[in-house]
Amino acid sequence: MRDREHTIQNNNAFGIQEEIETKILTDSPEDIAVAGEILKGGGLVAFPTETVYGLGADAMDLLAVSKIYRAKGRPSDNPMIVHIAEKEWLKDLALEITPDMEKLMDAFWPGPMTMVVKRQPNIPDVTTGGLDTVGIRFPSNPVARALIKAAGCPVAAPSANLSGKPSPTTSDHVIKDLKGRVDAIIKSGDCLHGIESTVIDMTGVIPMILRPGVITQSMLSDVLGKKVKLDPALNARLGENYQPRSPGMKYKHYAPQAEMKIYAGERPKVEAAINQEKNALEKEGKRVKVIVFDNEVEAARDLFALLRAADDEGVDVILAASMPEVGLGFSVMNRMLKSAGYNVTYV
Ligand code: TXA
Ligand code: MG
Repeated sequence: MRDREHTIQNNNAFGIQEEIETKILTDSPEDIAVAGEILKGGGLVAFPTETVYGLGADAMDLLAVSKIYRAKGRPSDNPMIVHIAEKEWLKDLALEITPDMEKLMDAFWPGPMTMVVKRQPNIPDVTTGGLDTVGIRFPSNPVARALIKAAGCPVAAPSANLSGKPSPTTSDHVIKDLKGRVDAIIKSGDCLHGIESTVIDMTGVIPMILRPGVITQSMLSDVLGKKVKLDPALNARLGENYQPRSPGMKYKHYAPQAEMKIYAGERPKVEAAINQEKNALEKEGKRVKVIVFDNEVEAARDLFALLRAADDEGVDVILAASMPEVGLGFSVMNRMLKSAGYNVTYV
């Protein structure tokens, strides 16, 4: 099953299926040097970050970046985040560095924040999805930083999952999705945060969050001394027709194969409702997985791994408890609501 998946989209120019030999590397300095050479040579390397694993290519190499779309099976209008290893690299990528950008860089870089900025014309269109802006991130994970330094170039990297699967938070997730489709995978530890970076659009007068993450609205607002906006699409529920400003947010992300239902309300009532539904479904012979988190940090770290596990275990229905949509809870619920197709029962 897995091997068939690996070969589906690696068609060569004649439409014949090809499997690429994937080097499985460690996070030792020697192996990071090898991975850096692969990136320099126009190859693809999956690597850990503090948010999720990324699939990297030289951001300035049109052919290398094109390979990412093919490896992931990703729509080519979806722009990449460009990863840097020094704050100074921003100068070569952004058209201008505003005082607001300086403040956020100083407060949150290196770390899980991506700034969308007006771009320099030399970045290939294939990296930016043809937009006149580019998302830039300076990750804090030491392996990511060492790799980008070794490559010596900005590294375009979406999450290292097959398109439509949850972002990978362990090296096993990456190996499962991308072995046979990329040149190398760096096996390292599990990701610290477990959800993708906060994406903030810095091109308007008031910055706007396009994707919520570990760096929250209040953290950003505090540093800037003014309230940053939220893309209205982030508060939309199913049926409401807002176009998200971040192209990647419009795709059906994170949807597990199982039907997923979220229960919202006071925790004891939620747990009672989940138990009742679980018993009823199991009587019908359904396989049920219950997801109840104790806190937002744990939820962010474990959510994607649990959704993947549900698929691997052949679960029919996932019953999940909601959490208050504030701070990191808002970011986690953003992912949970999408996974569940906004299927929420209020108790
Ligand atoms: O934490 C992360 O950001 C991870 C790690 C690997 O760094 N990367 C990641 O990349 O999540 P990806 O490609 O899966 O998600 C990037 C998101 C998409 O929703 C994309 O549309 C948005 O960022 N984005 C990128 N460039 C943009 C731009 N110029 N304008 C608006 N949205 C942009
Ligand atoms: Mg992604």
